[in-house]
This record gives sequence, C-alpha cells and structure tokens, in this order.
Amino acid sequence: MIVLKSRREIDKMRAASRIVAEVLEGVRHLVCPGVSTFDLEKFASAETLKHGARCAFLGYHEYPSSLCCSPNNQVVHGIPNKDFLKSGDILSLDFGVIYDDFYGDAAITVPVGDVSEAAKNLISVTENSLYSAIEMAVPGNRLGDISSAIQIYVESRGYSVVRDFVGHGIGRSLHEDPQIPNYGFPGKGVMLKPGMVFAIEPMINEKAHDVKVLSDNWTVVTCDGGLSAHFEHTVAITENGPEILTRIC
Ligand code: MF3
Ligand code: CO
Repeated sequence: MIVLKSRREIDKMRAASRIVAEVLEGVRHLVCPGVSTFDLEKFASAETLKHGARCAFLGYHEYPSSLCCSPNNQVVHGIPNKDFLKSGDILSLDFGVIYDDFYGDAAITVPVGDVSEAAKNLISVTENSLYSAIEMAVPGNRLGDISSAIQIYVESRGYSVVRDFVGHGIGRSLHEDPQIPNYGFPGKGVMLKPGMVFAIEPMINEKAHDVKVLSDNWTVVTCDGGLSAHFEHTVAITENGPEILTRIC
C-alpha cells in the first residue's frame, strides 16, 4: 500500500531531508586523500545529533554504522573503516535520518583527488539519470516512467543498471511501498499521485550489472570489479510537479 502524505507531513519530510542534505554536503567537503571513511562516519553522526535528529541506518537490520561508504567497485552498503582514501578513488556516500517521526534519505558519489575521465563520466551519467527520472515524477505519469527514464539514459551511454537493489517509498518508515526499480517500461505500473514521496536511487555499473554481497553480509560489490556509482534523492510528487526534498537550495 502506498501511503500518501499530507502537506503538513511533507513539511516534516522536508525538514528531515534538509538535515540529510546538509550533513551529506558537509561530508562531501571532507572527502580527500588521507581521510578515512570512519572519519566521515564520525562527522555525520555528530552533525546529526547537533540537528536533534537520529541516524536512520544505524541499527537498521543491525547495520553497524550511520553512513554507508562504498568506494570504487563497492555498489552500496559499504561499512566505514579506518583505511585512507587515495587520489583516484570514487566514493559513494548514502545517508538517512529520522526527525520528527519522518525519514529523509539521499546519496551522492564523489571523486577523491584526481580521478580518471572514465570515473568522472560514470559519476555524471549516474547523477543525470537521477534527474531524468525525477522529471518523470509528476501526477498522471506511471512508476515505469521513472524506472525506464533511468534505464534508457544509462544504457544508451554504455553503462548498466543494478537489478538487485531498488529505490523505495519513504515516510514514517525508511522503506515503504512501492519498490522503484531502476529499469522498466514506460506507461507501466501504478499511477503517480500528489502526496507520494519516493527515494529514487540509481545504482549504475561501469561494466556488467551483476553484483554480490561480501562475507560481512552488507557490502555489495560488482562481480567483475568495475566501478559503480549511486545517487539518491527523496522526492515529493506535488500538483506542481516533483519537489526534491534533499536538495540544498
Ligand atoms: N539508502 C539505502 C536504502 O535506501 C541505505 C539503507 S541500508 C542500511 O536502502 F541498512 F544501511 F540502512
Ligand atoms: Co534509499
């Protein structure tokens, strides 16, 4: 069942999402060679508490951290550690909070120092595929219009869409209906209505789409060792079109 949010509820989700966006922006500025993902975790967790919010991922299905840090061939759910980032890495950062009973969720992928043209291109194609999907998040369109926008954008540029993980509705729970695959058919699926709030999150691989989970039971990596990028926004569907709740304005 897809839970529709009232204007007041969307106001609360905007507040939660703003905290997510501000914390991620702070984390992004800390990323450089010589910093560890554990340093980023400590910053994100401390900033969240300053805002009076709680980290959404810590303890979720026993996930051990507040931030997901997934470098290079890691796709999602990488656990922060004390290894130093190095120039040429790319790093996906996924973060969520709960504030005033509502969740916000967002992800970005950032370069560390100087990265290859191939890495830069993967990052920009992934980010732009998210915006092509958000444009479709208008009343009267269907869920498949969002999904297929990502798939068409990405595959026409030679990259592949991860199949095993999807976006999701979001609200009083981190994961609500519907599931939002990053592939699908235009014109198919449920009709979009004002009050729906979605976490749209393309996970895009440089090479094949296949992924596997490491023995820590969390870290998802590409099977072929190729790079992977991830962008996510929490987006409200309104009469006036999509509102990106996790955008820094
Ligand atoms: N943003 C991700 C998601 O929407 C991360 C949550 S997984 C967690 O599913 F377990 F780490 F919380
Ligand atoms: Co999410």
